[in-house]
Amino acid sequence: MPTLQQWRKFYDGWATRDPRIASTGLPVADAEFDRLAAVLGDWLGLCGHERVLDVGCASGTLTTRWAERARQVVGIDFSRALAAAAQARHGGAARQFAAAEAAALPFATGAFDAVVCFNVLLSLPDHDYAQRAVGELLRVLRPGGTLLLGSLPDARCQQRFFDVLLAEAPWWRRAGSRAKSWLLPQRERRTQILWFDLPALVQQFAAHGCTVAVHDDPPFTNYRHYRKTLVVQKPAEVRA
Ligand SMILES: C[S@@+](CC[C@H](N)C(=O)[O-])C[C@H]1O[C@@H](n2cnc3c(N)ncnc32)[C@H](O)[C@@H]1O
Repeated sequence: MPTLQQWRKFYDGWATRDPRIASTGLPVADAEFDRLAAVLGDWLGLCGHERVLDVGCASGTLTTRWAERARQVVGIDFSRALAAAAQARHGGAARQFAAAEAAALPFATGAFDAVVCFNVLLSLPDHDYAQRAVGELLRVLRPGGTLLLGSLPDARCQQRFFDVLLAEAPWWRRAGSRAKSWLLPQRERRTQILWFDLPALVQQFAAHGCTVAVHDDPPFTNYRHYRKTLVVQKPAEVRA
């Protein structure tokens, strides 16, 4: 698996590219981001008064869309280059971007009404890091708040991803040779991304008194075939 530094170097490269690129490494149309942000904003239940944290915000493409439905959005990214680009492009009183790491969030406990971490946990060094990150996401969420933990590759869909989707997905056929040369070795090595045991993760949240809804990812590139999004309600009273 790539180390944290290797992942950071990979994402640093996005700062000088089209801000609409997604995991495929290819730009995605604005209208697709609009639709994705709308669905995720609905799942978060945004109604205009929330303070929202977006962890792994990249260049703020989704974060800024949620700003229209919240009191304030704060985007953080471990790539200083991406965080700086987001702040330069979108920053203001109601939209703030800074460099920080998911497993060490520089915010007070309970500081946010809603926390989003979409399409990030799959590119972490290992599951121990992912566990620390999830702990941090829950810590900075206020009691009664909502965590959207999104686009987690579902381990139960791994075989399907390799055997069918990679070969048949339209984005794969359209992908340039550079994207393919990055993806193909993954296929051979059975992937560099993290795959999640989602039933175990749901149980883990339940043990902390959270309620969890599991959704197929909204239609966006090909994610929905093998990724799920968890919408986690933190209990109003936190269990010890
Ligand atoms: C695939 S992009 C997703 C961006 C955005 N959330 C979206 O869905 O459009 C993953 C982002 O997470 C950031 N990231 C990855 N690991 C991180 C970590 N450990 N801490 C903070 N940000 C991280 C990367 O720099 C990158 O910008």
